[in-house]
Amino acid sequence: MPLSRRELLKLGLLAAPGAALGRYAEAQVGDPGSPPVIPFTRQLRIPPNITPSGGGGPNVTLTMSESTQAIVPGRPDTPIWGYNGQYPGPTIRARRNQSIVVRQINNLPESTSVHLHGGHTGPTSDGHPNDLITPGNQKDYTYPNSQLPATLWYHDHAVDVTGPHLYMGLAGMYIIGETFEDNLNLPGGPLDDVNLDVPLFLSDRLFNRDGSFAYPLTDEALIRGALGDRIMVNGVIQPNFRVPSRKVRFRVVNASNARIYDLRLTNGAPFIQLGSDGALLPAPLSRTSLRLAPAERADVVIDFTGMTIGTMVVMRNVSRSVPLSMDRAPREIMRFEVDRTQADTSVIPPALRPITPLGAAAQTRVANLTRGVVNGRPVWFINGKLYNPGQSEFTMVAQGSTELWQFNNNSPQDHPMHIHLVQFQVQNPGVGENGWKDTVLVPSGATVSVKAQFTGTAGTYVFHCHNVEHEDHAMMNQFELMA
Ligand code: C2O
Ligand code: CU
Ligand code: CU
Repeated sequence: MPLSRRELLKLGLLAAPGAALGRYAEAQVGDPGSPPVIPFTRQLRIPPNITPSGGGGPNVTLTMSESTQAIVPGRPDTPIWGYNGQYPGPTIRARRNQSIVVRQINNLPESTSVHLHGGHTGPTSDGHPNDLITPGNQKDYTYPNSQLPATLWYHDHAVDVTGPHLYMGLAGMYIIGETFEDNLNLPGGPLDDVNLDVPLFLSDRLFNRDGSFAYPLTDEALIRGALGDRIMVNGVIQPNFRVPSRKVRFRVVNASNARIYDLRLTNGAPFIQLGSDGALLPAPLSRTSLRLAPAERADVVIDFTGMTIGTMVVMRNVSRSVPLSMDRAPREIMRFEVDRTQADTSVIPPALRPITPLGAAAQTRVANLTRGVVNGRPVWFINGKLYNPGQSEFTMVAQGSTELWQFNNNSPQDHPMHIHLVQFQVQNPGVGENGWKDTVLVPSGATVSVKAQFTGTAGTYVFHCHNVEHEDHAMMNQFELMA
């Protein structure tokens, strides 16, 4: 098939990475640059909370800037790109149906685009990959928050370079709350100790010897995605977190470029899952293993009740999605250390938020996911096409209609597929228990179908693989929502 000009441009980028990429990419996979780390010797950091101001906007102002952070033991100076110069960025705590304006100032040397992942936003506030904030400029994003309360996250979405930008640190959490949920008296809620509603932001990195992040540009990284050999939680490598002997709520976000986690606790205790990507579940779900592909979230409670002070529980990754023979990342992700007792009057109610299954679909769309080679380098196709902002694969998505989207993975890699604007219901048997989702893992060889109702402001929205190296090269396409 003939390649568009746009596709040729992209391949030019693939063949000769620009200065922007080269700057962070001196070390390739296999460079023994990552630091030795003694696990659990550093404490978990909690990103600062931002409560949006009331009244006229902007209600939150963030500045994307270069800074340094103490990530590597003995070094204070790992360069990062962060929202307010921090990785992860501040946790924005919004309220349902209270629209806010977030002003984003770009003080970075490259263009960026800020996407609220999981947000039901209009097309001009969605962080479309080509809706760029050039260096020195700013943009106001409007977030209506007219959706079910959930754990969302915001991250960079600049065309072609989302991978390196996310890797440099452009990501933060965004939590929507509401009175209904407050009154459930969940652990970490406003009727409880709010410090026990804890963000856990998982990501993996390779490092250069000078302590900087090493973004891999090998063919292997285009195939598997950028996989690190050190795992961080909230920007701290293998941290320790001190908890009271009671129930604690965690918002787990897989903010890794490509890594899939299967989380387990060494004491065999379950994660009590309250919510998934887009909302609370109908009822709490007890899982001893928690799988999170890139961009997926889980809202969980871990119950440390009855554990004696000094008890240690390690959270491990038991995923085999990267063959063990080639995975240089540790299995231990973080440790919980019970260091105190604390009263616990919070509850885990038997029912949370009911979910009504969506009705019959008016339209079926098929997305075939395949791998290709162009100019000798691996690329990823949706229906045989690379991303082109001038083309939309799915047009005439009718306002308010329910559609069935079928992802057929005819490739040797797994693809976490994500649709902007909507929350969907997974149709495959056994996966429906995951509630409202915006990202679903489509394993190699599998077909996964999701149903969504498309409402919102008419316009162009993207859908893509959230292995961000796949996304950049160029497993992304668009749909047109009609008025
Ligand atoms: Cu989190 Cu379009 O992505
Ligand atoms: Cu998104
Ligand atoms: Cu993919």
